[in-house]
Amino acid sequence: MVQVNDNFSQLPKSYLFSEVARRIAEYKSSNGGSDVIRMDIGDVTRPLFHSVIAAMHDAVDELASSSSFHGYGPEQGYSFLREAISLHDYHGRGLDIDPADIFISDGAKSDLGNLGDIYSRDCTVAVMNPSYPVYVDDSVIDGRAGDIIHGKWSRLVYLDCDPGNRFMPSLPEKKADVIFLCFPNNPTGEAITKDELSRWVDYARENGSLIIYDSAYEAFVRQPGMVRSIYEIEGAEEVAIEIRSFSKTAGFTGLRCGYTVVPRKLKGRYSDGTDVSLNTLWNRRQCTKFNGASYVAQKGAAAVYTPEGMEDVKRVTDYYMGNAAIIKSAFSKIGFNAYGGDNSPYVWVSAGADKDSWQIFEQLLHICGFSTTPGSGFGTKGEGYIRLTGFNSRENTETAMSRLVASGIRM
Ligand code: MLT
Repeated sequence: MVQVNDNFSQLPKSYLFSEVARRIAEYKSSNGGSDVIRMDIGDVTRPLFHSVIAAMHDAVDELASSSSFHGYGPEQGYSFLREAISLHDYHGRGLDIDPADIFISDGAKSDLGNLGDIYSRDCTVAVMNPSYPVYVDDSVIDGRAGDIIHGKWSRLVYLDCDPGNRFMPSLPEKKADVIFLCFPNNPTGEAITKDELSRWVDYARENGSLIIYDSAYEAFVRQPGMVRSIYEIEGAEEVAIEIRSFSKTAGFTGLRCGYTVVPRKLKGRYSDGTDVSLNTLWNRRQCTKFNGASYVAQKGAAAVYTPEGMEDVKRVTDYYMGNAAIIKSAFSKIGFNAYGGDNSPYVWVSAGADKDSWQIFEQLLHICGFSTTPGSGFGTKGEGYIRLTGFNSRENTETAMSRLVASGIRM
């Protein structure tokens, strides 16, 4: 028999959101199939925009004719989409990111893990605690996490986030080579200011670290002064990779399209001391391991940058933000501390550090019929919290929250 990657034996048995789905299915089957309002995984519910659908219909028609058929596309993505991203998401906001810095992907999650191919297995990785579990799971699979001791991996550097620091971690005490930052944050829902993020860029410049900046939720930033792209910070293109997705912004969770910015100014070093561009390495990796995102999905993504598409992004993200406000206000009304939700579709609710997140999950599922994500699934600092998403319909969000208020559950 083949010898397998031992690191898998160290991972939790199932991925966080698979475990949540399993418990919901179990609850449904033992309760006569009763409906559960899903407020756990950040999966969108509004349909694709008309402009996106029309562009994809045209793309399918092109594929139906030999004169306009497309086979393999460029591994980096089609230039029509890379140019639209560069123009609207960067140059249009005064940021110097060119199409050559942009790689189209099938979504943020894959690239977050795939990037591990280009930095050394010896790198020390820092993650926020709590954080999106993909950063930790990927580090475990790649052998960068060490051993798990009392819920923490021995080789990871944890950047603790709690109400005491407004969920903004301090710089690491131990040197970190690769730092995963996510703002607006998943799961806490908190956004970061320029001053706060500048400290991280300065740290990375001083220590030769790489920041992997997950900005999948940037379209939900509403307060002026909150950062949408790490490249708003001077010098960040020498230390940071930025990852984005059309999933939450434009309803692409099922369609799959995102992008990763690896600026050509970003350098790494081989163990023999030779410098190399990370853009070159990532391009080399992609050409071998990836054949590009689907043409139809990329045509749909390009339509997000039409005037109609951009209005739709605002309309739909506003809708989800309205739901987040309803959730935050309902939990606050019954005495819970609720965070996030102002620049993010996520609301992070504290039931008290002595509480077990999975018990709160079960309680809300059984009493109120809606699902949440247990905070402990995001790290030790998530214990006692649950995360809710604003991605369900307005009607379902209102129903769930009126059940909560009527339930008699109080902090
Ligand atoms: C989440 O709920 O954290 C996200 O939807 C998961 C994902 O994007 O993979």
